[in-house]
Amino acid sequence: MNLKDLQENVITLCREVGEFMKAEQATFDLSKIEQKTSFNNLVSYVDKESERRLVTRLSRLLPGSGFMGEEGTNTPSVNGYQWIIDPLDGTTNFLHGLPIYSISIGLAKEDKMILGVVHEVSHGECFYSREGQPAFCNGREIRVSNIRSLSQSLLATGFPYYHTDKKDAYLEIIKSFLEQSHGIRRLGSAAIDLAYVACGRLEGFFEYNLNAWDVAAGGFLVQQAGGTVTDFQGGNNFLFGGELCASGQIHHDMLPIIQAHWGVQQKS
Ligand code: IPD
Ligand code: CA
Ligand code: CA
Repeated sequence: MNLKDLQENVITLCREVGEFMKAEQATFDLSKIEQKTSFNNLVSYVDKESERRLVTRLSRLLPGSGFMGEEGTNTPSVNGYQWIIDPLDGTTNFLHGLPIYSISIGLAKEDKMILGVVHEVSHGECFYSREGQPAFCNGREIRVSNIRSLSQSLLATGFPYYHTDKKDAYLEIIKSFLEQSHGIRRLGSAAIDLAYVACGRLEGFFEYNLNAWDVAAGGFLVQQAGGTVTDFQGGNNFLFGGELCASGQIHHDMLPIIQAHWGVQQKS
C-alpha cells in the first residue's frame, strides 16, 4: 500500500463528497432534520449519504480495512487498518446554513494514526498529513503557532450537548480563559478547530464529550504540525477518552487552568 497515493485519493474523494454537501446545503430546509438520541443531537440524510459514499470508496481503496463511522458504519478490520470517519463534522452549522463544516477522515494502522484529512468544505481548504510527513493545507506546509503565552492566544472550544453535571466546571474553565487570552471561538466543528490549531490560526482548543471520529484526523494533524494533543490530565487518552486539549505551544498555560476547575475526580 502506497500511503502517498492513498492520501491523494482520499483528498480527491473529500473534494467530491464536499461538492455533494455544498449542493445539498443550498436547498436544505430545517424540516429535513432528523433527531438522533436527544433533542439537540441532529442528523440529516446528507450526513448518512456522505458516510455511505466515503465508506464505499475507501473500502475499494483499501480492501479489508475496518470502519468506525459516526453514522453507524462499524466493521472490524481484517488487514490491520481502520478508518475513523466523521462524514459531516459541524452538522448543526450545516443544517442552519452556516458555512463551517468539514469531512474528517483518519486512518489507523494497528491503533496508530498514519493518515489524517480534514476537508473544510466551504472554502475548499483541505488539511492533511501522513506518517513521517509534515502537515499541509492545499499543498502548502503548515505549522502550529509560535506564540508561547496564553495572554497572546486565540482559543476555541465546543459547548457540550450533554453531561450537565460537568457544565459548571466547564463554564469556570471558559471564564478563566476568557479573562486570560485574546478570546474564545466556538466554530461548531471540532475537526476544523483542530485543523486551525495545526495551521496556527488558533493557539489552542479544548473540549469534552468528543468522539474518536471528531478528533482522530485533526489530532493527528496537530501532532504532525508540531503541536501537542492530550487529555485534560496531560495523558494521551484523547481519542477515546472524551477530553481533549490541543495547542501549538501553550499546553503549559492551558492544562493547569483546565485541571484547576475540572479535577481528577471529574473524569467519568
Ligand atoms: C460536533 C462538532 C462540534 C462539537 C460537538 C460534536 P457533529 O460534531 O464537532 O464542534 O462541539 O461535540 O459532536 O455532530 O457536528 O458531527
Ligand atoms: Ca463530529
Ligand atoms: Ca458528524
